[in-house]
Amino acid sequence: MSYDYSKVIIALDTPEEEKALNIVKLLKHKVSIFKVGLELFCSQGPEIVKKINDLGCKVFLDLKFHDIPNTVAGAAKAALSTQAFMFNVHASGGREMMRKVRETVDAASVSEKPIVLAVTVLTSLDERDLKDINISKSPLEQVKTLALLTKQAGLDGVVASPKEITAIREAVGQDFIIVTPGVRPSWAQAGDQKRIMTPQEALEAGASYIVVGRPVTAAPDPVEALDKLFDGAWHQQEGDIV
Ligand code: C5P
Repeated sequence: MSYDYSKVIIALDTPEEEKALNIVKLLKHKVSIFKVGLELFCSQGPEIVKKINDLGCKVFLDLKFHDIPNTVAGAAKAALSTQAFMFNVHASGGREMMRKVRETVDAASVSEKPIVLAVTVLTSLDERDLKDINISKSPLEQVKTLALLTKQAGLDGVVASPKEITAIREAVGQDFIIVTPGVRPSWAQAGDQKRIMTPQEALEAGASYIVVGRPVTAAPDPVEALDKLFDGAWHQQEGDIV
């Protein structure tokens, strides 16, 4: 298997435009998709998406919309106007909310339709957190339920932990996009990511795209870090949270 950098998304987790655009300029020879999350979007607004597009790159707009169907459909329309390559909603917003988003995207007269994903269960939540909100299913069962709902509502795929890929593929099949953060090269610290796989393991497990942030963007030399993204096997290091 060759490790295809077209499946790599680099997370721009900074509030500063200059820092974000510098990372894009440094890495765009190898990677063409960059993730703009709440921090950067709330600091810089939709213009940041245009500026990344103007550098010849694509944007995964990771704003995780979650509201009543009408409001989220309006947000989807606004996301369409930024020309994001990919954006997402929370699957727990429900079937109708996701259907409305599908309809909005289908009805839009844009040359390239964005990929629309749903977040299933945030990887920061465990069984106890789900109990707090009266969900008695395990996180994995809940992920499968919400992945199926996402597919039925007509969205293109989900954001999920790499450890959930196999179960999601069993539940919804191959024709479904799975984007996985929580990947760590063998040479990187796990940091606050809990259920990790290496980039190559995640792709082999069936991820359509992998999201990598700090191992590359916080490295002393981000270009070198990106070059060795697929190097080596995972060795657990002291202090890693796994
Ligand atoms: O720096 P790191 O590689 O951990 O960055 C991962 C990115 O993916 C961050 O932007 C984080 O917010 C995002 N993400 C995640 N887990 C999720 C959803 C998104 O780590 N379940």
